[in-house]
Amino acid sequence: MTTFPDGFVFGVAASAYQIEGAWDEDGKGESIWDRFTHRPGTILNGDTGDVACDHYHRYREDVALMAGAGIPAYSLTTAWTRIIPDGTGPVEPRGIGFYDRLVDELLAHGVTPYVTLYHWDLPQGLQDRGGWASRETVDAFVRYADVVSSALGDRVKHWKTHNEPWVAAFLGHYLGEFAPGHTDFAEALAAAHHILLSHGRSVPVIRSNVPEADVGIVVDCRPSTPATADPRDLAAQRHFDGFRNRWFFDPLFGKGYPRDMVDAYRDGGRFHTENPPFVQPGDLDEIAAPIDFVGVNYYTAVAVSAGLEESETTGVAPGPNPPDGYTEMGWPIIPQALTAFLKRLHDDYRPRDIRVTENGASFSDGPDDDGHVRDHRRIDYLRRHLDAVADAIDLGVPVTGYFVWSILDNFEWALGYSQRFGLVWVDHETGTRIPKDSLAWYSSAIAARSGGA
Ligand code: FCB
Repeated sequence: MTTFPDGFVFGVAASAYQIEGAWDEDGKGESIWDRFTHRPGTILNGDTGDVACDHYHRYREDVALMAGAGIPAYSLTTAWTRIIPDGTGPVEPRGIGFYDRLVDELLAHGVTPYVTLYHWDLPQGLQDRGGWASRETVDAFVRYADVVSSALGDRVKHWKTHNEPWVAAFLGHYLGEFAPGHTDFAEALAAAHHILLSHGRSVPVIRSNVPEADVGIVVDCRPSTPATADPRDLAAQRHFDGFRNRWFFDPLFGKGYPRDMVDAYRDGGRFHTENPPFVQPGDLDEIAAPIDFVGVNYYTAVAVSAGLEESETTGVAPGPNPPDGYTEMGWPIIPQALTAFLKRLHDDYRPRDIRVTENGASFSDGPDDDGHVRDHRRIDYLRRHLDAVADAIDLGVPVTGYFVWSILDNFEWALGYSQRFGLVWVDHETGTRIPKDSLAWYSSAIAARSGGA
């Protein structure tokens, strides 16, 4: 078994809307996910995050579960609407109060908090004024980043501005599957740009509020291969990689938007000027603000064929039968694609530090008659992906952390409660938590693999 280098951090992750519940308590404003889930027909089975895992009230129990398993770090996200309910108006002290208590509870139990500022729950008040498609939202985000980092920066050192800009921009504004549920490619491109700009502008703000801040951003990576050697599939795969990966990594690392994609989008009529109209002078320099690390969320890889270059194309296995099967999301299990993607990031962009900020698997195993949750398929998935990270380190890639998605079974966006990613099983009727075998496994894996050479 591989041990990880000294300083490598193991953790678990969750996000505000997926676990907190208390959707309108203590002055919290409405977010685009509150609005979206309350609209009939958007979410499987009509599920909402109104109650979710009730973490807002049960956070002490959840922190105790992490601490009891010896998990060193927890990546949480703050809900913008708890802190600035309408996005731009007064700060709600009760919202800050919740995250104060949560951070203190974590620290008191020896769990290091990692805070992400945005995991898709934009205040509806900002959406009503154009949301991410509007440049004004950038200013509102920078103020929010300032408020949160001032309030928690004396205790929280690790900060992530955004989680998965592609998802917020394209699943939300082009593919329409996520809030706000729009289907306009030009709007999605503008949203992506404003999200990236808000990231770049808030990095120095967080640094000025937090002594020795460790600041980065999380990008969802979706490795891909061409479905066949047909030149049309090769071109489709290159476009897909530009759409999903390079459109984000290139500007973050100072390369600007990829020329082939700018040309393809313009030639495809996505905008009618030589360059994207939403890019103003200086934006690309701001987006490329130096960061301490880049986070990648990895779940699966796909094979791309012509016609699918701008789809989500999850569930399309490279080859007819992926040898390791699928998770219950329908996602092929391909740990070696994680190693290859980490190596590629290192080769193409040279980030000084890379962390796997989410990785995990949906399997619905619940309690057996004796009350045990024997989720051996999740254990196998996690073990193999940890090995894939170790392989990347052996290739010289500076990977310094790994976070399992997720500590709890939770609200899986458009799929509601039908998918279970947790190390802890949650009865969504009662809120009862039952640690799964995977939590015990992760606990011993952390102990066995920490602090190697
Ligand atoms: C990621 C999201 C996270 C969760 C997992 C399964 O894309 O960041 O909230 O839904 O997928």
